[in-house]
Amino acid sequence: MVPKVSSLSLLFLSLLLLFSLSSAKTPPKPRAFLLPVTKDASTKQFITTIYQRTPLVPAKLSIDLGQQFLWVDCDKGYVSSSYKPVPCGSIPCKRSFSGACTESCVGSPSPGCNNNTCGQTIYNPFIRTSTTGELAEEVVSLQSTDGSNPRKYFSTNGVVFGCGSTFLLEKLAKGVKGILGLGNGYVGFPTQLANAFRVPRKFAICLTSSTTSRGVIFFGDSPYVFLPGMDVSKRLVYTPLLNNPVSTSGSYFVGEPSVEYFIGVTSIKINGNVVPINTTLLDITKDGKGGTKISTVDPYTKLETSIYKALTKAFVKSLAKVPRVKPVAPFKVCYNRTSLGSTRVGPGVPPIELVLGNKNATTSWNIWGSNSMVAVNDDVLCLGFVDGGVEFEPTTSIVIGAHQIENNFLQFDIANKRLGYTSSLLFSQTTCGNFNFTSKA
Ligand SMILES: *[C@@H]1O[C@H](CO)[C@@H](O)[C@H](O)[C@H]1NC(C)=O
Ligand SMILES: *[C@@H]1O[C@H](CO)[C@@H](O)[C@H](O)[C@H]1NC(C)=O
Ligand SMILES: *[C@@H]1O[C@H](CO)[C@@H](O)[C@H](O)[C@H]1NC(C)=O
Ligand SMILES: *[C@@H]1O[C@H](CO)[C@@H](O)[C@H](O)[C@H]1NC(C)=O
Repeated sequence: MVPKVSSLSLLFLSLLLLFSLSSAKTPPKPRAFLLPVTKDASTKQFITTIYQRTPLVPAKLSIDLGQQFLWVDCDKGYVSSSYKPVPCGSIPCKRSFSGACTESCVGSPSPGCNNNTCGQTIYNPFIRTSTTGELAEEVVSLQSTDGSNPRKYFSTNGVVFGCGSTFLLEKLAKGVKGILGLGNGYVGFPTQLANAFRVPRKFAICLTSSTTSRGVIFFGDSPYVFLPGMDVSKRLVYTPLLNNPVSTSGSYFVGEPSVEYFIGVTSIKINGNVVPINTTLLDITKDGKGGTKISTVDPYTKLETSIYKALTKAFVKSLAKVPRVKPVAPFKVCYNRTSLGSTRVGPGVPPIELVLGNKNATTSWNIWGSNSMVAVNDDVLCLGFVDGGVEFEPTTSIVIGAHQIENNFLQFDIANKRLGYTSSLLFSQTTCGNFNFTSKA
């Protein structure tokens, strides 16, 4: 009798011990991660830093919403014991629509040169140039967040990226070693992180207009809190993200869909009046033309020529009483700052309203003065939209550029195929520069 009891209680004790040990070993699962983003003064590129490789090293990267995956320069100084080439025919290879396989690389094995490795197109949108490079997996370390402050770093292995070349760094901001591709696809950084860290497949960007404060990218769930204590996730308005069946990248494999974020603009209004445009141009055709996408590499919204003409005409008409001044390239419509006056949301001009969605459910993204007007010097403000012109590459009709999304909070909810947006945060008396980057333990 006695031994039986004691062995039972021993078992119970050791079970208890096991339970408490395993729960002590598992840190609370982070719900979200973040990256700080700065705006480079000379190139206007948005820059972040990720920690990658073993041992971990910081890599400065330009962000690109429209790129299929993260890539870094592998030619120069790439040292890592955790570098793992992605084999031909593997899931990441197939799901990146790769049409290339390096069966045999001449030379000694090194990052960028391995046998039986999945080949990909590594693209720099700033010089519109690409090369082929291998896909690989690496360790990445990222700072978690509770939505209000940065928290502990967590590492994961197996994050897919592309191995690029030094010459592809041309025209990237100083010190930048590659591009953070935030595109909507299996090898896109958001989906890679979601799979690795088991956080929801969504991310949000908040870009600053100033080159002296830091904006932020969140990966995973809300809240998204900006000083003074405002959770902007409560202000999000949603519109569907649309598929474009044909890649809109400067370089891609046949059969590859676009990984860019398209939304359904159905009309444009200024001061409540519909701007007369050919709405057929707003649809995405089956060969991937037309439609509206969001870009972080185009500094200003780029419009198909007829839309550009109609929009500038309507804008000028809405400010008919205000004298224009000599335009400053690349813009065509400019005013003296003093004649426009100013408001909480920037220069006093009528908002440009993008009507989104479909006939049953529309929402409005209002572009206010701080996002529509660009200060080209101390005196002169110009309408910050440009004519896509004839060389307009692969013909997306409206490319919403970086100036128009600064201080607008955008959540790309990939899993639920929708975009959450706030319009200008200046209305809510905060900015993208107001995240509290002081770490909490
Ligand atoms: C690839 O395989 C060939 C043939 O086995 C070998 O000679 C070569 O060194 C290998 N290359 C690399 C980079 O491993
Ligand atoms: C509208 O645009 C479409 C697509 O470019 C074109 O085929 C059509 O002719 C245009 N319609 C008008 C009235 O210009
Ligand atoms: C803008 O207006 C100010 C004040 O009226 C004037 O001093 C300045 O010369 C004007 N600048 C231009 C470019 O017209
Ligand atoms: C930023 O966060 C830190 C850490 O929680 C806190 O001590 C500090 O007061 C916060 N700053 C502001 C301006 O609220």
